[in-house]
Amino acid sequence: MELFELINNGHIKPIHPITPFGFHDVPAALSHIRAGRHMGKIVITRRPGEDVQVPIRPAVQPLKLDPDVSYLIIGGLKGACGTLAIHMAQHGARHIVVGNRSGISDEASANIVEGCATFGCTVVEARGDVGDSDWVQNLVKTTKPRLAGVIQGAMVIRVSCLQTGTYLRNVWTSLTLHYRTHHMS
Ligand SMILES: NC(=O)c1ccc[n+]([C@@H]2O[C@H](COP(=O)([O-])OP(=O)(O)OC[C@H]3O[C@@H](n4cnc5c(N)ncnc54)[C@H](OP(=O)(O)O)[C@@H]3O)[C@@H](O)[C@H]2O)c1
Repeated sequence: MELFELINNGHIKPIHPITPFGFHDVPAALSHIRAGRHMGKIVITRRPGEDVQVPIRPAVQPLKLDPDVSYLIIGGLKGACGTLAIHMAQHGARHIVVGNRSGISDEASANIVEGCATFGCTVVEARGDVGDSDWVQNLVKTTKPRLAGVIQGAMVIRVSCLQTGTYLRNVWTSLTLHYRTHHMS
């Protein structure tokens, strides 16, 4: 009621000025906002007589992972791979195998395992070095249900003048994983 009184008595007025942009000028409208000097409102509208053909994108298909296969995450659960594991569990993964050298018994990883379990997803540890071709081959052969997807998230950063060794090792581990799993459908 108070608001209507203020409007009716002319104390509150529509925002001013209103700067209209046509649908084809959306980039210009955004640049105008980004410049940070505008006042009032920027309105995207159809100009009189304008034939508007706004392009639309197809809706993004939600990720649907297979609950009857295993997904291998190399790189532990402490960093980005932990968030990824939760995301995969949210989207249907029910068997995740996590490979790294130090295992997943730390607190951060345990929280991720628990988070995955709330979606009915089991996370198991596979301790090893992804640069060890035999270890990778054995893992691929023995994982049940069969592996159907691999995430390579192993990384080591050493700050030094000569990082070529670390770089080459990361490339080597990725290649090992690729050659041992590329036959998977
Ligand atoms: N975090 C980000 O914001 C971000 C952004 C963009 C891209 N990424 C990419 O995402 C990936 C994961 O990043 P992150 O932040 O999660 O890194 P992170 O926390 O350092 O995790 C990487 C893990 O890789 C494991 N690892 C290293 N060498 C290994 C080996 N030879 N075999 C098996 N496991 C090995 C390490 O565990 P162990 O020492 O126990 O083996 C380490 O915990 C990286 O490839 C990174 O480039 C990350």
